[in-house]
Amino acid sequence: MNIIDIITKKKNNEELNYEELSYAFNGYLNKQIPDYQMSSLLMAIVINGMNLKETISLTDIFLKSGDQYNLREKMDNVVDKHSTGGVGDTTTLIIGPMCASLGLKMAKMSGRGLGFTGGTIDKLESIPGFRVNLSKNELIEQVSKVGFANCAQSDDLTPLDKVIYALRDVTGTTESIPLIASSIMSKKIALGAENILIDVKYGSGALMKTKEDAETLSDYLKKIGAYYEIKVECLIDNMSNPLSQAIGNAIEVIEAINVLRGKKCQLRDTCIEIVAKLLVMSEGLSEFEAVKLAAGSLDSGKALNKFMEFVAHQGGNIEDVYLSEKRIEVKAKHDGVIKNIDALGAARLAAKLGASKMTLDDTIDYSVGIYLKKVKGDSVKQEEPLMTLYVNNYNVELNDEDFDFIEY
Ligand code: URA
Ligand code: CA
Repeated sequence: MNIIDIITKKKNNEELNYEELSYAFNGYLNKQIPDYQMSSLLMAIVINGMNLKETISLTDIFLKSGDQYNLREKMDNVVDKHSTGGVGDTTTLIIGPMCASLGLKMAKMSGRGLGFTGGTIDKLESIPGFRVNLSKNELIEQVSKVGFANCAQSDDLTPLDKVIYALRDVTGTTESIPLIASSIMSKKIALGAENILIDVKYGSGALMKTKEDAETLSDYLKKIGAYYEIKVECLIDNMSNPLSQAIGNAIEVIEAINVLRGKKCQLRDTCIEIVAKLLVMSEGLSEFEAVKLAAGSLDSGKALNKFMEFVAHQGGNIEDVYLSEKRIEVKAKHDGVIKNIDALGAARLAAKLGASKMTLDDTIDYSVGIYLKKVKGDSVKQEEPLMTLYVNNYNVELNDEDFDFIEY
């Protein structure tokens, strides 16, 4: 076998078998295949695609490049959720404790922010003392005991995905449904939940640009799951609006606590929907029953107690979460009704305040962010506050265009 023949085959839009994919990808991991040849193969895959059989082969090659936790063989009712990126997406910090309080188990590995979209690991690091790195044994022990653990992606799982992901990022080869599907699913299967819910986002700021692409990706994800006898269901969502009123790091942790304390808002409804779906999948409940249980876990305070237990277990001091004292109220220029709040625009403003990394060696200011005081459909009067900005410096240069993302 040789790599040039494999690249040529894909260039000619032919199917690659397991051995050929393994030769190329494992060769890359073992540094026998150089960056330029792997980049060329990846580009041929982006352009000509891969069928389901090839995608399952690649998922399996990623999976077998590292350790596997097999969580579903170690305990009952293990669920997992994944979102392909969002702005103000604090759902994991609410859903995990809700699930745990209802007898489900969630071992969640999260990522850091990418571009303008926030990452759960960055948000967790805004809690002083919180440990985002857990060993395999720590993770398994915490999930069996508390029901929820949330840590950074372990280096032991799917190391091949890690190197390929980094190469894709710098070679224009990110946008490929089979490559995305095998990347996501290999990491999920390596943990080994029994039921997985994946929130597939589409829209201008998302990985998938159209609803059709989001549907095709969902179909691949479900079929890969089925091959490994893991039930996968997908929600398909437009990503044009922020998921919550809070955008930042500490501020999103605080908003998660607000919802866990019973705040009624869009974020609460989204979390109830996701937890209900997981309960239907895992426990075979009716949707009505599942929604009632999910809402009850918030209203009874049981999910809040689980959240506190989870944070304490990973060393965090929730009382010490710090939000900047320096605040700027942004007021409406005229009367109106909020027509739209653009997610990407909100994320850009949060980034300008220092809430996310703009370059690799940038640092994140956990204490800054945005709190939207008005949501879609609200009416607003001139001079009424639209949002509060939490800043580290009153001299941050802001102009009218920074607030254009709210249309009213
Ligand atoms: N998320 C992943 O884990 N992998 C991709 O390829 C894209 C999004
Ligand atoms: Ca079960």
